[in-house]
Amino acid sequence: MLKKLSIAAAAALSLSAGAAMAAGGAGHVHDVDFSFEGPFGAFDQMQLQRGLQVYTEVCAACHGMRYVPLRTLADEGGPQMPEDQVRAYAAQLEIFDAELDDFRPRTPADHFPESGDPNAPDLSLMAKARAGFSGPYGTGMNQLFKGMGGPEYIVSLLTGYTGKEKEEAGTTFYENTAFPGGWIAMAPPLYGEDVEYADGHSNSLHHEAEDVAAFLMWAAEPKMMARQQAGFVGVLMLTLLASLLYLTNKKLWAPIKGKKFEG
Ligand code: HEC
Repeated sequence: MLKKLSIAAAAALSLSAGAAMAAGGAGHVHDVDFSFEGPFGAFDQMQLQRGLQVYTEVCAACHGMRYVPLRTLADEGGPQMPEDQVRAYAAQLEIFDAELDDFRPRTPADHFPESGDPNAPDLSLMAKARAGFSGPYGTGMNQLFKGMGGPEYIVSLLTGYTGKEKEEAGTTFYENTAFPGGWIAMAPPLYGEDVEYADGHSNSLHHEAEDVAAFLMWAAEPKMMARQQAGFVGVLMLTLLASLLYLTNKKLWAPIKGKKFEG
């Protein structure tokens, strides 16, 4: 009996896993253990700084992040860069100022630039716009503990090139196992050893991909940690309150409910 049950349970599990994969698109997305997963996860400050470096030195050539204010690079819980470094980072990015009718260096009050390549989507919200491994379908538990899988999708995308190319209507497409449809117009942006990390961290393809994916998750959800924790604490408090109310209610009505009708 037990055996039968466990077989049925296993079948049901594999079915739902299959459905989740299928729903995530035709692409294959693999799981990554990020530091920010789970109700008490947190962004890894050094990883976010490395991710910013990959974004700046590689991705920013084509992709913008126009919804992200530069000053947030100094925020607690984020890359938490010193203010003077943020100012220096901003200053090397020019912006056209209509009032001056000229270009000027950015300040921390400005946002990251827009995409330079009109075909390259803005990455500000990309980690939330794409779901992968663990969502949005499934039981919901996966999402609480592992998030929606957006950063996993980005890692899988960056590491999913097979090396095959084809040309269609003058555009080159690259075969990619994570991209829905299997062919993407973005040439492989990372090969490994594309950047030199100041903290001496491994710059293998996989590490670079994870770092930039973590950075993009932070860009899309800078307050994710605070929200997750507030949500978790909120649920605990509500549970406590509900049980107290239940007990109070029981006690209040006990003398009345306990009486037999004496008509
Ligand atoms: C040479 C320009 C270029 C560079 C450099 C580049 N990309 Fe792209 N990227 C593109 C283009 C073009 C597309 C749109 C491809 C398509 O829709 O077929 C794209 C699409 C994407 C997408 C969206 C995929 C989807 O699901 O629609 C992500 C995510 C992405 N790039 C991440 C990155 C990251 C991270 C880097 C840096 C490591 C990077 N890109 C570097 C040009 C670039």
